Amino acid sequence: GRHLIDPQDFTVEELEEIFQLAEEIIEKPENFTHICDGKVLGTLFFEPSTRTRLSFEAAMLRLGGKIVGFSEPGSSSVTKGENLPDTIRTVAAYTDIIAMRHPKEGAPKYGSQFCDIPLINAGDGGHQHPTQTLTDLLTIRVAKGNFSNLTIGLCGDLKFGRTVHSLIKAMSRYDNIRFILISPNELQTPEYIKTEILDKKALDYLEVERLEEVIDQLDILYMTRVQKERFFNEADYIRLKDSYILDNVKLKSAKSDLTILHPLPRVNEISMEVDNDPRAWYFKQAKYGMFVRMALIVKLLGVK
Ligand code: CP
Repeated sequence: GRHLIDPQDFTVEELEEIFQLAEEIIEKPENFTHICDGKVLGTLFFEPSTRTRLSFEAAMLRLGGKIVGFSEPGSSSVTKGENLPDTIRTVAAYTDIIAMRHPKEGAPKYGSQFCDIPLINAGDGGHQHPTQTLTDLLTIRVAKGNFSNLTIGLCGDLKFGRTVHSLIKAMSRYDNIRFILISPNELQTPEYIKTEILDKKALDYLEVERLEEVIDQLDILYMTRVQKERFFNEADYIRLKDSYILDNVKLKSAKSDLTILHPLPRVNEISMEVDNDPRAWYFKQAKYGMFVRMALIVKLLGVK
């Protein structure tokens, strides 16, 4: 089977097909309620999740398929010492497609070698989160109409935030994108993203520490949570966790057609008063996550 491990596993043209299909599903969901009849999705979540797991499961159910899986690896035979290849081989024999989240970077890529059905990376450590990127891109497409000529600000924990790494990879393939990377010094974008993507493609990017300095330039502001679970040291987390809090005062100097995104969950980094601002797209974004995963399942299963 074909896997989705890295956001670049699909060409720009293939992504376009997925977004068009997602938009068809949004418009006429009744045309898709039986398209996955008889198919089973396995969800193997070795790390907590609300949106990714539940949107995958809701997606499969809305397509007429069924779901099995675990969200608590403690309830699986992993606790008895079963290794990842054996777990994946076993679940692949019961299902038609697997979505897996794992705290170890590279675990989905490694696991996919033992998987003869499509395996989807639902987030691996601080590395990549390609289906969040599909969600982010579909939202940008709906909000802005296309993916070109945009200044995108990525703000917060750019070191451990896997959604940011995947989004930079994906957006780097479109024309005339300017990235503004807004983070504390200690949470800057990893070197490999800068050298292998931004520098290699000679993309226009800027690193700053203060959101206020650049907020007026942005077409998209992608806020992120400081990733507590990736810190070695609690004191560092506490010191950095409230580095950015987007509120109505900061938004005064932003463009009137700014699109505010956040992969969620948020902790403190967007004040709840912003939720009522028409520029706040993050709950719509979470909803698009389900539709784009419906399109992804249909595509990877080849049922349309
Ligand atoms: N955006 C995202 O991955 O959310 P969850 O961790 O709740 O799945």
